[in-house]
Amino acid sequence: MTDWSPTSWKSRPATQQPAYPDPAALETVVGQMARLPPLVTSWEIESLKAQLAEAADGRRFLLQGGDCAENFQECESGIIADKLKILLQMSLVLVHGTRKRVIRVGRFAGQYAKPRSEDTETRDGVTLPSYRGDLVNHLPFTEEARRPDPTLLLRGYERAALTLNFIRALIDGGFADLHHPEYWDLGFVKHSPHAKEYQRIVETIGQSIRFMETISNAPIGQTSRVDFFTSHEGLHLLYEQAQTRQVPRREGWYDLSAHLPWVGMRTCNVDGAHVEFFRGVRNPLGLKIGPPMTPPWLGDLLDVLHPDNEPGRLTLIHRFGAHNIADCLPPLIEAVQKSGRTVLWCCDPMHGNTEKTAQGIKTRKFEHILAELEQAFEIHQKMGSYLGGVHFELTGENVTECTGGARGLTDDDLNRRYKSQVDPRLNYEQALEMAMRIARRVAEMNGEG
Ligand code: PEP
Ligand code: CO
Repeated sequence: MTDWSPTSWKSRPATQQPAYPDPAALETVVGQMARLPPLVTSWEIESLKAQLAEAADGRRFLLQGGDCAENFQECESGIIADKLKILLQMSLVLVHGTRKRVIRVGRFAGQYAKPRSEDTETRDGVTLPSYRGDLVNHLPFTEEARRPDPTLLLRGYERAALTLNFIRALIDGGFADLHHPEYWDLGFVKHSPHAKEYQRIVETIGQSIRFMETISNAPIGQTSRVDFFTSHEGLHLLYEQAQTRQVPRREGWYDLSAHLPWVGMRTCNVDGAHVEFFRGVRNPLGLKIGPPMTPPWLGDLLDVLHPDNEPGRLTLIHRFGAHNIADCLPPLIEAVQKSGRTVLWCCDPMHGNTEKTAQGIKTRKFEHILAELEQAFEIHQKMGSYLGGVHFELTGENVTECTGGARGLTDDDLNRRYKSQVDPRLNYEQALEMAMRIARRVAEMNGEG
């Protein structure tokens, strides 16, 4: 790796970084973080990379999901467990429909920083820094709350550790054991319009496991256990830098703040600081691509971020919107095919489908989300490419943030339980329904419908 170091990004234009008023305090915090133990390990990262490589080849399927932004207050056992439950349930449905092993990656344990379209916000003639997520400042519109506070980096790091510790303990304790999917039932599953279909899938999978165990005369230890990996947008470069380390007996540098960091749409300039930073780490990377992306720009990004065509290294997460995907996606698939490189293609049907209601509430329509996904499957298949993953903003809670779905939520329902401070998420039922629709679609494509 030529001319790269964990701080070489500092010589490039770095967008979306907070302006901290006290550089000495910031330096102290970054120094402290750099000495704390890492959140994840290089062998977990390499294991995920190997699994993503199989997904890129069509042998696995990636499910990535979680909040748009985590916040510090919601670092609570119930909320974390419910997020795991919905991801587990969705993955079970996807295993059933795709007949593939599913890689589960949460948008959690570090998804605390948000890109903003403006550095400042003005209300009634008062201009203050924009809220950039709990890692940076606080939401209330006061000077004190909005002042970027470097100690929040440490608080975020600690909450990420608490979240991850709880998730690891649940999984090690058997919570995610495929023999006991009843552990994952959310309280209101019984009243869900999808309860029957879900129960049927659970039973079929339970039977298959018991059948395999009977014929092999041993418990399927490995297959019945599931992994969870973490991901977040690699936005706050000092946070990432402080946790980027060299590890014994491996070459290169690892960003040990998450298994799968991704570069967002607003920070993917080839010459910018974010691309400079992430080109140098050995992690698998996500790269968000939206309507502004062009084939030459993507070609340049592949040269910088994926120069050696290392299996599993790059996941392209496209997010165009139901109305744009048919125009935007094909030229980019072609650009990747021409480059001769292999990537894992993943569809984020959320970020291109955000709209505002007449009352000014940010929402997304279930049918637009589904329409983008269906087109994505079709376009990839037509072009001899493979859509190997999906990326959602969702929660295990019973919120009303997106409209539509089997319960037919409308704009009027949005006032009832709208909790997100940023983007609207699929609620538990909508997320499960989405998984079922995808599973059915893939089964049809495979001629099993
Ligand atoms: C996000 O994933 O929350 C996000 C900001 O996405 P994008 O960079 O694709 O807009
Ligand atoms: Co979002």
